[in-house]
Amino acid sequence: MRQIFPVTGQELEVLPAAGGGPLPRSISQLAALYGNEAGPTTADRPWLRANMISSVDGASALSGRSGGLGGPADRMVFTLLRSLADVILVGAGTAREEHYGPVTPDRIWTGLRVGKPPAPALAVVSRSLDFDGCPRLFDSSLPPIVITTAKAHPGRLGALDRRARIVRAGHDRVNVDEAVTALADLGYRQILAEGGPHLLGQLAEAGLVDELCLTISPVLSGGTAGRVVASFDEKAATTPLRLAHVLADKGFLMTRYVRPAD
Ligand SMILES: NC(=O)c1ccc[n+]([C@@H]2O[C@H](COP(=O)([O-])OP(=O)(O)OC[C@H]3O[C@@H](n4cnc5c(N)ncnc54)[C@H](OP(=O)(O)O)[C@@H]3O)[C@@H](O)[C@H]2O)c1
Repeated sequence: MRQIFPVTGQELEVLPAAGGGPLPRSISQLAALYGNEAGPTTADRPWLRANMISSVDGASALSGRSGGLGGPADRMVFTLLRSLADVILVGAGTAREEHYGPVTPDRIWTGLRVGKPPAPALAVVSRSLDFDGCPRLFDSSLPPIVITTAKAHPGRLGALDRRARIVRAGHDRVNVDEAVTALADLGYRQILAEGGPHLLGQLAEAGLVDELCLTISPVLSGGTAGRVVASFDEKAATTPLRLAHVLADKGFLMTRYVRPAD
């Protein structure tokens, strides 16, 4: 993988899997690239980074899932960003489609987590509390955070007793501002939003996206898949972004955009 913007010519070895122990050089290089502007410690709210992948023509999924769009370098960035995060935030649609489960230390670079828990927490936003499609979510000693509404179905809420940490944010639907504040109150300062498009659309509209890491996958997909940011509102707010860097590998472009300081 080569850094092509800014032009440094830096080469980073693409590694197939994560692990503990001493950090390989390319992981330290990548962490320096992705860590250099995430400065939440001085801000009064957490830093929210989104990580998404799209086909060249803008599709956010192939056959209903984003995995088919990925490649080795993109997966390395995906793992790196998880390794740097305090909490991973996803919508329930993504948790169901992508069969989400807890992030375990053997799947990340634990050497990047000095002073942090061995793995990031997982927070899932849901109104329906329908988790039938994602049994892995609750299959470990690491209960997920479920962010739901004041009107959540009492029976479904009861079924999550002791299996999840429940956060209520909003009345009829989750208010994403309140959700992010709740995560900050739990001590999470680095939030990694992994989608999906509808949750990301709300975070963007609320002005909460500080950074977008977007991989462009070298494929034209056609089909009916939506974009990486979805909105119910035609007049959705726009977020200006500054290109921070671009990495390239085998036709994949791993871009990083940050919101310029006000
Ligand atoms: N290309 C990529 O990088 C990428 C990343 C992630 C996902 N995806 C793809 O995107 C697709 C899923 O898209 P999506 O937009 O439906 O996913 P999503 O945003 O993850 O899920 C939508 C669901 O999240 C919950 N939700 C979102 N906002 C809420 C709010 N304000 N209040 C309460 N609940 C809220 C609701 O769950 P309930 O129905 O439980 O109430 C809603 O149905 C899948 O095909 C997935 O593979 C692609």
